[in-house]
Amino acid sequence: IDTDVTTALNTRLLERCTSSYEYGLGVLQRFVAREGHARVVQTHVETVDCVYYALGWWVMVKRSEFKKGKLLAERIAEHLNVRLGEATVERFPDGEVHVRIDEDVRGADIFLVQSTCPPVNENLVELLVMIDAFKRASAERITAVIPYYGYARQDRKDEGRVPISAKLVANMITTAGADRVLALDLHAAQLQGFFDIPVDHLYASPVVTRYFRRLDLPELTVVAPDVGSSKLARGYAKRLGAGLAIVDKQTEVMNVIGDVKGRTVLLIDDMISTGGSIAMAASAVRERGAKEVFLAATHAILCGPAMERLDKAPIQQVVVTDTIPVPREKQRPYLKVLSVARLLGEVILRIHHAESVSRLFDIELDDEPA
Ligand code: R5P
Repeated sequence: IDTDVTTALNTRLLERCTSSYEYGLGVLQRFVAREGHARVVQTHVETVDCVYYALGWWVMVKRSEFKKGKLLAERIAEHLNVRLGEATVERFPDGEVHVRIDEDVRGADIFLVQSTCPPVNENLVELLVMIDAFKRASAERITAVIPYYGYARQDRKDEGRVPISAKLVANMITTAGADRVLALDLHAAQLQGFFDIPVDHLYASPVVTRYFRRLDLPELTVVAPDVGSSKLARGYAKRLGAGLAIVDKQTEVMNVIGDVKGRTVLLIDDMISTGGSIAMAASAVRERGAKEVFLAATHAILCGPAMERLDKAPIQQVVVTDTIPVPREKQRPYLKVLSVARLLGEVILRIHHAESVSRLFDIELDDEPA
């Protein structure tokens, strides 16, 4: 696209001798000064904002064009009291990802924030090439901050001739040049072992637990929507001083192990993907006499029929975190988004200053509205 733009923009752009981004009619466009005019050279590009600190360390964030409002990394930056810098991620005409770090990062301690959420492959490749760009720009250390780690569910060979993609992705991140990884609520904690570099694995539970403590729900039972989530649910039940039940998902029949009759149920899962698991679990506990059902899940993937299922499910409130941005069309009055920015910000500070991260879990963190 080669469109002439306004004189004001021309002047500003030519004075600065640089490229510029403008939002208009919901489309993000990149302009560059060319032959005396500002020209649109790219639409549907995504900007990367980099947050840096006076002492020379950075937190990089990607701003997706569809998202209005603040992103997790912006909230992290606010918490750390650092300002945003500039970098660019764009697509070549054939769809290849192209990255340019727009500021000097030589010797810097980089915290690159990127969830590998949908579009998973696009976000993953962006993460990889960003890491490579930082490495080649002589950054001192690169920490891949991956609030949601995609491909995590492909973590074993449970039938013949299938890959272990979670391991492959870990290899790719390491090979690209990451020195450490900071992740939140990995689908399985043992995924840490897929990396041969240090992994700090955090839990959103302090933030979510605090929220439910404030709600002070009566006669509370925490319910795991499947056997795989029972360890996570047990942890929540312990922290909240609540009972515990487990939905045992058979192909046709759902058994609920534990008593939910007359109880307020809090379903706990690590993610809501298509919403199938939690919708079925919510119906199962309601059929067995649960009074009210709440749901908490760290990662709001919300793909496919998820919103349709959530809209119909007998659930009072759905609580998620901002590890994945919830686009406007998926926002609902019953959907509460808690921010994990303060948690991640505190951990980033500790990593930067080589302080203990595990001690942080003894500290109560305020949840901030996302
Ligand atoms: C399963 O092991 C996970 O913890 C989630 O329960 C599951 O992946 C969610 O997927 P969906 O929302 O599509 O049922």
